[in-house]
Amino acid sequence: MIAAQLLAYYFTELKDDQLKKIDKYLYSMRFSDETLKDIMSRFRREMESGLCRDTNPTASVKMLPTFVRSIPDGSEKGDFIALDLGGSNFRILRVKVTQDKKQPVQMESQVYETPDDIIHGSGTQLFDHVADCLGDFMEKQQIKDKKLPVGFTFSFPCAQTKLDEAVLVTWTKKFKASGVEGMDVVKLLNRAIKKRGDYEADIMAVVNDTVGTMMTCGFDDQRCEVGIIIGTGTNACYMEELRHIDMVEGDEGRMCINTEWGAFGDDGSLEDIRTEFDREIDRGSLNPGKQLFEKMASGMYMGELVRLILVKMAKEGLLFEGRITPELLTKGKIETKHVSAIEKTKEGLKKCMEILTRLGVEPSDEDCLAVQHVCTIVSFRSANLISATLGAILSRLKENKGIARLRTTVGIDGSLYKMHPQYARRLHKTVRRLVPDSDVRFLLSESGSGKGAAMVTAVAYRLTEQARQ
Ligand code: GLC
Repeated sequence: MIAAQLLAYYFTELKDDQLKKIDKYLYSMRFSDETLKDIMSRFRREMESGLCRDTNPTASVKMLPTFVRSIPDGSEKGDFIALDLGGSNFRILRVKVTQDKKQPVQMESQVYETPDDIIHGSGTQLFDHVADCLGDFMEKQQIKDKKLPVGFTFSFPCAQTKLDEAVLVTWTKKFKASGVEGMDVVKLLNRAIKKRGDYEADIMAVVNDTVGTMMTCGFDDQRCEVGIIIGTGTNACYMEELRHIDMVEGDEGRMCINTEWGAFGDDGSLEDIRTEFDREIDRGSLNPGKQLFEKMASGMYMGELVRLILVKMAKEGLLFEGRITPELLTKGKIETKHVSAIEKTKEGLKKCMEILTRLGVEPSDEDCLAVQHVCTIVSFRSANLISATLGAILSRLKENKGIARLRTTVGIDGSLYKMHPQYARRLHKTVRRLVPDSDVRFLLSESGSGKGAAMVTAVAYRLTEQARQ
């Protein structure tokens, strides 16, 4: 018994020792609350310079007006199509909105492939593909003879001067089709639909996925005034006072702003917290020098960040007895879903053993513990960074309202937030610590951002119908 206790004690010591070593090794990825508060105030300043006419042209966080002025009020109804392009899946949905109390929204949807040669090909190919899929969907729904209003969730930064016009500022994440930047995506899609000539569509609204998420959650909770995505990419939108938005006429009421916080740091303002691994990720990306915050925090890069750290540790003999295999050296071999699996409380270590064994590094039990800890540090850093930027938005909302305590709802979606076993809890806890004078409800968008795009379309549709009468 005593021997067993001694052994257990010995292993705990060993484990603690091992973890402490890694903590020290990845010191620059672990932030104190003081640092997080500092990042929060830096982002507050970025928001202000994006909103202000004089500083907007050079601001890295673009704070794009969306022309969405309110969340749904419940009086919407109709039959709509929603396209959802730019997240982990390309989806087309049919959304029926009725005044039925029990089930006001009915949805049917289909996922379509977006192969790499299309998202990296020409813009014409990309929009022809979207138009083909839409044709297929309408055929299956037997609505090819109808001209239904379409809402387009397009999850990239777009400059808008009205709801149904959206000029792509720059591609982000995995997309890089030529000839689209600087163009209005509504025009491009309309052109592709016309070219086919076998159906008609009325594209009434283009919305970012953050806006779609805020609207989806806003349908269930009227208090929702922030939308966040933590998936392949990361971004947020929130309701800003119109009088603070220099780029849009008018002073009354509010408008939703798409912050495009993924670009935070593109002007060098996060250099002190970026690591050699972040720089390496950036160098190997489709858009070097851009979306630097996104590259530190979102799902598209998290697995790769872990892999780069493991390679360095192995090279220094700190892991796998220095064994380095071609698999371990291959870009993309560790994915974010693996990080999520490794951090599961019960089976995490077993999963870790499986994943590392597949990479051929012949891991020991200690290696697995160490790798699990590396994953925790990288994913925790992401949750911390996003807590800081979200904290900035919340403190701005509170100031705008001039109240002592903020009560609000944040709508959230995204694969990393949904799939990672610890992420949500860590994020909620840190936000509450950084913005103590608030009661924040986090609402998971169960039905995605497509429903929100349909809601925006429904409002636009109601308004044009009213104007026509
Ligand atoms: C990228 C896009 C942004 C989108 C986010 C989440 O950051 O630039 O528009 O909202 O990914 O999909």
